[in-house]
Amino acid sequence: MIDYKEILEKTYEIASLNYYVVIDVKGNYMLYSSNEDGVSSLFLMKGDARVKVAERITLTTYIENGKFLYAYEAAKGRELHKVFMYDVNAEKSIEIQHPAMRVLSAAFDGKVGLLTGSAERNSLYVIRGNTAEKVRDLNYPFSAVSSIYGEYAGGMGYRTDGALELFFYNLKTDEFETYSPKVGSSSYPPLITEKGVLFASNFESGKFALYLMDIREKIPKKLHEGYTDYTFYDYREGKVIFVGKERGRSSLHVGEEKVKTPEGVISNAILDSGKVYVTYSNLITPPSIYVYNGEWKKVMGDRTINLGEVEYHSYPSSDGIEIPAFLVKSSTAKLPGPTVVYIHGGPWGEVDDSFDPFITALAINGYHVIAPNFRGSTGYGEQFRMMDIGDAGGKDMEDIANAVKYFKEIITEAFAVGYSYGGFSTLKQLGKFPELWKAGVAGAPVADWVDMYELADAAFKGFIDLLFKGDRKLMSERSPIAYVENVKAPVCIIAGQNDSRTPLRPILRYVEKLMNLGKSFEVHILPDAGHIPETKKDFASILIPTILFLKNNTS
Ligand code: 4NP
Repeated sequence: MIDYKEILEKTYEIASLNYYVVIDVKGNYMLYSSNEDGVSSLFLMKGDARVKVAERITLTTYIENGKFLYAYEAAKGRELHKVFMYDVNAEKSIEIQHPAMRVLSAAFDGKVGLLTGSAERNSLYVIRGNTAEKVRDLNYPFSAVSSIYGEYAGGMGYRTDGALELFFYNLKTDEFETYSPKVGSSSYPPLITEKGVLFASNFESGKFALYLMDIREKIPKKLHEGYTDYTFYDYREGKVIFVGKERGRSSLHVGEEKVKTPEGVISNAILDSGKVYVTYSNLITPPSIYVYNGEWKKVMGDRTINLGEVEYHSYPSSDGIEIPAFLVKSSTAKLPGPTVVYIHGGPWGEVDDSFDPFITALAINGYHVIAPNFRGSTGYGEQFRMMDIGDAGGKDMEDIANAVKYFKEIITEAFAVGYSYGGFSTLKQLGKFPELWKAGVAGAPVADWVDMYELADAAFKGFIDLLFKGDRKLMSERSPIAYVENVKAPVCIIAGQNDSRTPLRPILRYVEKLMNLGKSFEVHILPDAGHIPETKKDFASILIPTILFLKNNTS
């Protein structure tokens, strides 16, 4: 029998790690989020005093004029949000009135606020007083409003071809214009400053660079090139601060200076009175807040977890394309040993050198972990990311399957584990390559793209259309439910009752087929939970069944 006590202890330890994310620092104030109280919450430090602002928070803006906007999830995981404006001095929130919707983004300049949100349509809202009024519908599945400066607001949206374009909205004249320096190129969220518009784009060479341009003339001037991605940028105290990223690791620049950081991922950086505050993590360090003032000091953070050795690899796929992958050689598994191919979500996401509770829980429980960045992953250029458009669940699945072949020297038996698009990929792997897998765990999986489409809001309908170029036949052909008969390995499915991205109905239909076909399976439905784990309990409810199921299926 497996050692339940040991598995529970080790796995709960990972589910209950504290994370800390800095949001803004202004003098005596530090705004940050943490799960310290068991649920993802927003806190404000005023000197040494900690004020809890809200729970289940999903987004916040910077503090401007002693105020900021934040949103929290208010529908038991359905991702219908409420937006508030918080006054730092009065320690009071006012609720902003708006239609029931998935709030996607917010920007705020201390007086005026803007939102993008999705219900029947994806729309742009302006906050006046305590009401958000719709100013226009947006033709994007996903959009983000990123900054306001004077009469100008700026943001970004996914075009129907998958590239990202910018938009500018004039708050005075109500004029709206879209902007892309070159057809088919991608540009990342504009930050409008006194110096001009700061943004990242790949329009010149297909590789990203950081640019500054006058908002009227729109002639971008290059500030920096050389990194694959520019994942964060800001302008404060007369300096441009940015984070470049390459092969899953970040570099930090403050003004003209490249600041040496510990190895890993810096998700954001806040300059205040010459000091730089960052959110830092790597595969063994949960998100923590560090400050740099000539040297690095930890401000808030939990302990590191000894997983084993972390290696970066790349391997050729079926058509010769190089697929990057992280390999964690578990310090508690034999070599070769039981190995999990951990499939990330998105699909426009990646496994990088940042903390991932799945990878950590798997490695400390004695599994080597291979995390492929299959085609469609972010972090390796726009051409690579957009390779899954019109081919989602196609060649990307071969990339994942090829990881098992490439790393065969370390594998005694292979398991597939993934969440969301990774859950989809897990079910698809078990149905399409049944010989490869000993067992699989699919969290919040897409089981049927067609059924899911019918249940989706404007944002996700748009996203599915984008991924499959609106081809219904392809959506059905690529769905795991079309392959359920071929499944050989035992399968574990974990899903939130109120998930509005990968809803339960198609998953239950998939399960019914597993049952009628006499397959071996187990199912965990998490009550009052949605797509995004928000509490330590949510993480425990996903990770513990995952590890128990794998252990029960490991030779
Ligand atoms: P996730 O997976 O981004 O990994 O959460 C997906 C969830 C929903 C859709 C696509 C991917 N969708 O198109 O609805």
